[in-house]
Amino acid sequence: MQTSGGSVEILDLRHFAAPVLRPVLEAEGELWEQRLHWDYHASSRLLMQYIDNHMLPGYAALASGRVTGYVFCVYEETKAVIGDVFALPCTPDGAGGASGSANSTEETLLRHLFELLLNSPHVERIESQLLLHPSGAYAGIFREAGFHIFRRLFLVQTLQGQWSPPQPDLPANLEFRHWREADLAPAARLICEAYRDHPDSLINDQYRSVHGSMRFLNNIVHYAGCGSFSAQSSYVIVERASRELAALVLGSRVSGQSGHLTQVCVHPAFRRRGLARLLLAQAAFSFMRMGAAEVSLTVTEANSEAIGLYKDEGYQCAHSFDAAVWERGTTA
Ligand SMILES: CC(C)(COP(=O)(O)OP(=O)(O)OC[C@H]1O[C@@H](n2cnc3c(N)ncnc32)[C@H](O)[C@@H]1OP(=O)(O)O)[C@@H](O)C(=O)NCCC(=O)NCCS
Repeated sequence: MQTSGGSVEILDLRHFAAPVLRPVLEAEGELWEQRLHWDYHASSRLLMQYIDNHMLPGYAALASGRVTGYVFCVYEETKAVIGDVFALPCTPDGAGGASGSANSTEETLLRHLFELLLNSPHVERIESQLLLHPSGAYAGIFREAGFHIFRRLFLVQTLQGQWSPPQPDLPANLEFRHWREADLAPAARLICEAYRDHPDSLINDQYRSVHGSMRFLNNIVHYAGCGSFSAQSSYVIVERASRELAALVLGSRVSGQSGHLTQVCVHPAFRRRGLARLLLAQAAFSFMRMGAAEVSLTVTEANSEAIGLYKDEGYQCAHSFDAAVWERGTTA
């Protein structure tokens, strides 16, 4: 498939080998570092492997014969997840795309992907969280295509050296300990309970079932779905009688200087007893001990209870971005 958007050509991403995308991925990596303090190298290596296997559905933008941008998605059964879109800013020699800014190339790439996915009868649902791009940047074209938009915040807590380790002071029926591999299945059950009728289960439908939550956890813990999983900064609180999890926090390393919390949740039966506060403090302390200068997390703007907790713990908003969801048969 080859169409044009201004003088930028849009071609199927599967026609390309990874080396021609390298300058684009390098520029994107710089932006991840600058905006979010994330080290993008591992993600870009993984992406290049998929591109080289010619397996990744998506599009590349070409200007003056050079690749200047890309967009891709992954399929999970009848769902498509738009993984990323990025285009080089315009350079003096015009290599960044004669149609102008990176924004217009990214918009053109997204429109092509929407057209592909909306016309693929097997795709029932599309999700997207373009973490790198500021909230509002593509909200208009997502809405035009029938997506619902949910604003999300990227919060950061600075870690300072004077902390002492939090002292878990829990009732006798609860046990506080590090994450273990065997916690995967109980954690999936906890996530499913914690996010029942929650705004985040509108954004990520994996939270709505134990099977989906298991998939989410596998991606985080085993496939570096969000940085590299750090068992040392991941904790659970177990109810001794049932051996089920009452609460958990999962941490990943996203760069030498930054830890990231990929999940914080407490079972509804154990809320407002300070469990989340304890888990946050413990994870932050462990990241600090490993030499991180900050810890970040993302939260949906509508989740005011959690935002209250994070602000109270010293988190500040450093960036906002949009989550977008489209479902066949519904209109935004
Ligand atoms: C958000 C969540 C993790 C809080 O867990 P928790 O163990 O109940 O929180 P804590 O008891 O440590 O509460 C700490 C503070 O958070 C705020 N808070 C927590 N729940 C609140 C609520 N329902 N209403 C208002 N404020 C709330 C309060 O400031 C509270 O302090 P206080 O009890 O001294 O007033 C829990 O409600 C949860 O699992 N929600 C669903 C999953 C989720 O939203 N996770 C976060 C995704 S980013």
